[in-house]
Order: sequence, then structure tokens, then C-alpha cells
Amino acid sequence: MNRVDTQILRIDDTLSSEERSLALARAGSVLAAGGLVIFPTETVYGLGANALDAQAVRRIYEAKGRPSDNPLIAHVADFSEISRVACLSGGEIRDKAETLAAQFWPGPLTMVLPKRKEVPKETSGGLDTIAVRCPDQEIARELIRCAHCPVAAPSANRSGRPSPTEVSHCIEDMDGRVDLIIDAGRCSVGIESTIVDLTGEKLSILRQGMIGAAQIAKALSVPLRSITYPQTGREDPPRAPGMKYRHYAPRGEMTVYTGTREQITRELCEALEKDRRAGKKTGVLCADERVALYKADVIITYGSEKDYPAAARRLYGALREMDAQQVEAVRAEAIDHPALMDRLLRAAGQNGGQSNQ
Ligand code: TXA
Ligand code: MG
Repeated sequence: MNRVDTQILRIDDTLSSEERSLALARAGSVLAAGGLVIFPTETVYGLGANALDAQAVRRIYEAKGRPSDNPLIAHVADFSEISRVACLSGGEIRDKAETLAAQFWPGPLTMVLPKRKEVPKETSGGLDTIAVRCPDQEIARELIRCAHCPVAAPSANRSGRPSPTEVSHCIEDMDGRVDLIIDAGRCSVGIESTIVDLTGEKLSILRQGMIGAAQIAKALSVPLRSITYPQTGREDPPRAPGMKYRHYAPRGEMTVYTGTREQITRELCEALEKDRRAGKKTGVLCADERVALYKADVIITYGSEKDYPAAARRLYGALREMDAQQVEAVRAEAIDHPALMDRLLRAAGQNGGQSNQ
């Protein structure tokens, strides 16, 4: 692809409200004109384009190096705007969507809904459904309002790389490939939104996130067991097409150790010993509580073992740090949280396919 001159726009508390409004108006007009803007959300940075402009959306796939059968999430500034991308003509789906939005929006929950025909197939990857979310990030919502359109945005990483949770990650992957990057510091959640499909006979969670199945079941007053989790890799076509690809991967080989604490520590130490004999540069990703147990070239902790929100905030940065330090063998302890474990296993290629998103 042709290199473009990427502008970086810092938006923080040092700006006056006029300066901030001007900056966001400028970024909004880039989107409205068919350009690509990387913007912060509470989960990860997104690579945005006008969701209703097929040509602009094609540029997203090109910039990411992403397969075009993999649909995008349309971001809106509030619930009333979902009618620009989804058909909610009343009935059960609408009721569920309203209930979930009332409880979790703005926030890290994406809903898959029936698509409006005006949404180009580029945005939905050819599906007749559309994924929609309203981010809990004021800058993101102001940007969407300024653009006057729903904003299609995948995570702003190159395909297969860990999602970006701070602006340096975005620059590393996307400098020269997008028109503008909005720098607003670190993302507060750190892993991507939970995706729930409301269009099937059963409610299904297509991607786990920090909003758990139990919270969704409670909000909708349905039993937890009525929510399904499609097995990725076994369906044709898969329900969340992106989940069939290897994701979030550091460049080194990565392994996740599961089992009891003792088993994890023993097997991980044995593997480190082997790596050392083979002359490999080793990296360990573990909880604060167990740092002292491991001898490796690089040790990165994701925080205390029970502080899952902190682990989520640090996870992708830690995987990128392993790359920055040129670690050849990344050895990670399992994390006792479904969404975090999902990301670790995908990064290790131990769950899902072998090509990249
Ligand atoms: O937190 C997030 O969701 C971030 C921020 C930027 O909002 N976005 C994000 O987008 O993670 P992306 O493109 O990296 O992941 C979207 C996932 C993919 O696995 C894709 O296959 C799935 O959502 N998806 C999108 N539309 C879908 C649809 N209509 N049906 C099923 N899965 C869909
Ligand atoms: Mg992604």
C-alpha cells in the first residue's frame, strides 16, 4: 500500500475545551471524508473509518493486512444511533438490546444484531448481521458525533499482533498506514469487548471480555446455562469469523502452562531450564506473587493474581514488551479468568487456527 503521512494528535487535560473541540472536529472531518483515524476506546485503540462508506472500509483491511471475510464492529455514540446500522423493528431482539444497552452501554459490550441493507458488505464481511458497540470513552463518542456517521473499527494492530492499548503500540504497527492517530494515553480496560449475538435462537457469547456471561444472564433474567459459546474452529462458517485466526501473538514462540499452581511452576521451570540449555532468550509472564520462583532473561508480571482488571490492562503491553526485548520463548502462567485465559491461549496459538487476523 502507498505510505501516507500519519498525523498524531494528542488530546489530554492540557488542552482548553476549544482546542479539544477543534481537534475532534478535525479528526471527525477526516473520517467523514473517507479517511482512517486511530482513536482510543476503553478496551483497546480502534482503527476507524465511516462504516457506511465501502471504499473507506476497504482501506481498513488494507492497513491492517486483515482478511476481508472478517467483519468489523460499528461504533455509535448512543443507543438511538444503532438504527443507522441495525434493524430493530420491535420484538424480542429489540427488548434484549435495549436491556443490555441500558445496563452496559457505554461500555465493553458488543451486540450482534440484524443488519440494515444500507451497511456495505465490506463492513459486515458479507454477513446479514452487524456488530455494534458504544464505547465508554468520551473522546471516542465525541469523535463519532463529529464524524456524523457510525464508525467501523477493528483493533488498531497489524493483523495477528496484540491489540494496542497505548499510542506507542499504534505507531509501531500503523505509522504510514493511517491518516491520523489520536493519542489519549492508556486504555482503561485493556482487552477487547465481550461480543454477544442476539440474532440466533440461543444467546451466544462469540468473544469473552470483562463483562462476563453471568452478568449478561442476570441483566436479561435468563439462566446462565441458556447462554452458549460456539466452539471456534469447528463451525463452517464460524459465528465470529475473526475468532478462527491466531491473534494477539508475540513474535517469539509462546506456551501457556495450566494445572495446579505446583504443576504450573514445576513445568514452567523445567521448560526454562531446557530453553537455557538450547541458548534461547527466555521470558516469563506471571503474577506478582510468583516472580521470585522463576529464573529467566525477562520476567514481566501482570500484577497480583486476583486483580483481573489490572491483568487485563497490562496483558497486551506485556506481550509487546516480550517482542521489544527479543524474547524467543515466552512462558506464561495460566490466569484464572475466562477472557484473559482466552487471550493467552490465542496468543500462544493453542486455541483457534494458525493464520492471522
Ligand atoms: O473492544 C473492541 O471490541 C475493539 C474496540 C476497538 O472497539 N474492537 C475489536 O474489533 O476488537 P476487532 O475487529 O478486532 O474484533 C471484532 C470481532 C472479530 O472477531 C469479528 O469476527 C467479530 O468481532 N464480528 C464482527 N462482526 C460480527 C458479526 N456480524 N457476527 C459475528 N462476529 C462478528
Ligand atoms: Mg482485533
